[in-house]
Amino acid sequence: MEIYICKVCGHIEFGTAPDVCPVCHAAKAAFQKNNSIFEDSAKDNSEGIKKHTPCVITRKDALIEEGPSTNVKVRIGEVLHPMLENHFIHFIDCYIDGKFTARAEFSPEAIYPATDFYITKTSGKVTIVERCNLHGYWRTDVNL
Ligand SMILES: [Fe+2]
Repeated sequence: MEIYICKVCGHIEFGTAPDVCPVCHAAKAAFQKNNSIFEDSAKDNSEGIKKHTPCVITRKDALIEEGPSTNVKVRIGEVLHPMLENHFIHFIDCYIDGKFTARAEFSPEAIYPATDFYITKTSGKVTIVERCNLHGYWRTDVNL
């Protein structure tokens, strides 16, 4: 599947570039194709992989009882990624069946690189994408 990156905000789209970026509303022309963006980041080293690959747990949860829901819990790194002023996790994005649904955006101040998403699906593929300001893009795919 093709991968397009918004040059304005760093958002990734799978498949085709959208008419408008769903995160920063930049026009289609702001998207640049780079199908090897995840492989490029992982060329780093084994410590880089341990510190950057999203760890994902999915489960049924009682918080949302109004409809079907899955709780998608994410932390960045089997070895927790640092959150320093010059080196931190910028965002964690959630996709369902390749379609962007939500972003958790971080500052390096007083927070761990972890978040929860509550999605309306109980089947399909969840993709978590994270961006480190120094070490680029990393992903984990989970089938519900
Ligand atoms: Fe990093």
